[in-house]
Amino acid sequence: MQKKIETVKTLLEALPFIKQFANQKIVIKYGGSAQTSPQLKEQFAEDILLMYLVGIRPIVVHGGGKSITDMLDALNIESKFIEGQRVTTKEVMRIVEMILSGEINKEIVSLLNSHGAKAIGISGKDAHFVTAESLDFAKWGLTGKIKHVDASVINNLVHEKFIPVIAPIAAGEEMGHPGFNINADLAASFIAKSIGAKKIIFLTDTAGVLDNDKQLFTSLTKSEIDALKADGTIHGGMVPKVDACLEAVEGGVEKAHIIDGRVEHSLLLELFTSEGVGTQITL
Ligand SMILES: Nc1ncnc2c1ncn2[C@@H]1O[C@H](COP(=O)(O)OP(=O)(O)OP(=O)(O)O)[C@@H](O)[C@H]1O
Ligand SMILES: [Mg+2]
Repeated sequence: MQKKIETVKTLLEALPFIKQFANQKIVIKYGGSAQTSPQLKEQFAEDILLMYLVGIRPIVVHGGGKSITDMLDALNIESKFIEGQRVTTKEVMRIVEMILSGEINKEIVSLLNSHGAKAIGISGKDAHFVTAESLDFAKWGLTGKIKHVDASVINNLVHEKFIPVIAPIAAGEEMGHPGFNINADLAASFIAKSIGAKKIIFLTDTAGVLDNDKQLFTSLTKSEIDALKADGTIHGGMVPKVDACLEAVEGGVEKAHIIDGRVEHSLLLELFTSEGVGTQITL
């Protein structure tokens, strides 16, 4: 009996958060680095389903950096990164699209649907809802920078109770363009601000943003981030992630968090408890 009362108390503790987030859109960036064990993937699906069933409107944007690198290695193609973003030749772009849209997107969609959700997998090429241009073709090739997101595509899906699962690939505007590879963090933040999301959460493979002694920053402001980028504390894949957080909050998203996708149910801990986890980014 006592145990049952504890369960009820736990549910009641979540009540203010459930009320606050009801009918709100929350973008979850599911990092390739957090898509590790089958058990963690199952828990991720359960967390998204729970959010959905209590009336939150989750939108998933996924990455897949590690799988792309593994496939390129298997094909003897070198992976190159500049400032945390992949250099995408035409040859690499084909692999990026196969892995992101073909493999990872469908895996996440199947996982959510087998848990009883109505997930739909799309990339920016669908309905050309995300268009992009070159970041700097000479430097990054087909790695792109988003120009426009047609929010109505996502808003319609969400309105019809679908969970959009988005692969970070954008359409190019010219006829026959192979498309652009978009850093998934930056795709998530652009989509979040375009659809008026209340919150954006980045699931990755660290506790959050760490200092040089591996201690967690529980919150960071824009000026603190600038300094940490300048002295190299924030580097590699964390650079586009903090930039994406800033872009989201500057674009009207109330809260941006970077949390540990390797911790069981970290998504629910962040959403439904007052402690919060990871690093919160503010202006
Ligand atoms: N100050 C920092 N604190 C924490 N991690 C950092 C820091 N600076 C750099 N990193 C690196 O950033 C990585 C997370 O970014 P990464 O791009 O690898 O993962 P992801 O974005 O979750 O996955 P994907 O790119 O596949 O979507 C960490 O694993 C870590 O190596
Ligand atoms: Mg990344």
